[in-house]
Amino acid sequence: MPPVWLMRQAGRYLPEYRATREKAGSFLDLCYNPALAEEVTLQPIRRYGFDAAILFSDILVVPHGLGQKVWFEEGIGPLLDPITTEAGLAQLRPGLQRKRLEPVYETVSRLSHSLPAETALIGFAGAPWTVATYMVGGRSTADQAATRAWAYRDPAGFQKLIDILVEGTIDHLLAQIEAGAEAVQIFDTWAGALPEQEFARWVIEPTRKIVAALRASFPRVPVIGFPRNAGPRYPDYVEATSVDAVGLDTSMPCGWAREALGGKVTLQGNLDPLALVAGGEALRGAASAILDTMAGVPFIFNLGHGIVPQTPPEHITELVTLVREKR
Ligand code: CP3
Repeated sequence: MPPVWLMRQAGRYLPEYRATREKAGSFLDLCYNPALAEEVTLQPIRRYGFDAAILFSDILVVPHGLGQKVWFEEGIGPLLDPITTEAGLAQLRPGLQRKRLEPVYETVSRLSHSLPAETALIGFAGAPWTVATYMVGGRSTADQAATRAWAYRDPAGFQKLIDILVEGTIDHLLAQIEAGAEAVQIFDTWAGALPEQEFARWVIEPTRKIVAALRASFPRVPVIGFPRNAGPRYPDYVEATSVDAVGLDTSMPCGWAREALGGKVTLQGNLDPLALVAGGEALRGAASAILDTMAGVPFIFNLGHGIVPQTPPEHITELVTLVREKR
């Protein structure tokens, strides 16, 4: 009987999201408007009755809260004033400016009252490595080259950026939990870009520190890790970070994940977002295969990455019905 929610379940594929977004102005204005961010978080819950709501926000509010210039350009996505050397870290404030992020915590607090009791509220943050790729690259990049190059050229300097992010991320997640988040997810979208040694240093170690700090204050709040495209390194990640649940990306064979991790950690995933776009037999076949493979181990049905804007909203109704009929 898996619970179901979807990454990027609030977003541009929903007409009601596009209407609210227009009212808000820019994407960041929407993130920092508690009434509208609450509304957008609730929209997919009203439509589909998912078992969990994920806070509407973005991973880039952390660099913004650290003092970096961040903005979103229509048709491009996020842009940041890049920091590419240790000297560039002087742009940042000494710690997370909770005041700047107060509207995000107010959104969480509102949601903890407005969501139905049976709907879990998930807070989130980007993992330090993934957030660093935006801070250093200044935008979404295909290969995270500038960030990987800094990490090789000057590991001690890059470590300083990662340490700032570890502290800021702990602070940000603690504030969300204090405001009412019942679980948190750590998104490491670009984890798969790193070779083994680098993966241990920049993906596993920072995440381990974050999980340990959260657990010290809130031992019962589950932490979901999402080391996207980490492939055969998933078991090391799970073991070393001690996350409670792990998000499987689309490329991960469910049978392999079940064999390696089933029962040790809750598995979450991993329908291809494009199967959801296609709908029909492709969607039913792919979703059923996942459900059949994961039957009997602790499992949360989700996508292997976020919903894409061209997704027909009615395909999601079909998916949720299918997951629930399997119960
Ligand atoms: O899942 C949800 O419904 C909650 C909200 C959420 C958003 N971003 C809203 C958003 C979450 C959890 C994120 C996480 C996020 N943001 C990640 C990690 C997860 C992943 O998808 O890999 C990353 C890498 C970002 C950074 C980011 N934000 C990018 C690269 C972009 C541009 C992408 C695009 O499709 O335009 C965003 C913008 C963004 N964040 C949108 C949404 C709904 C689209 C903004 C719009 O309305 O124009």
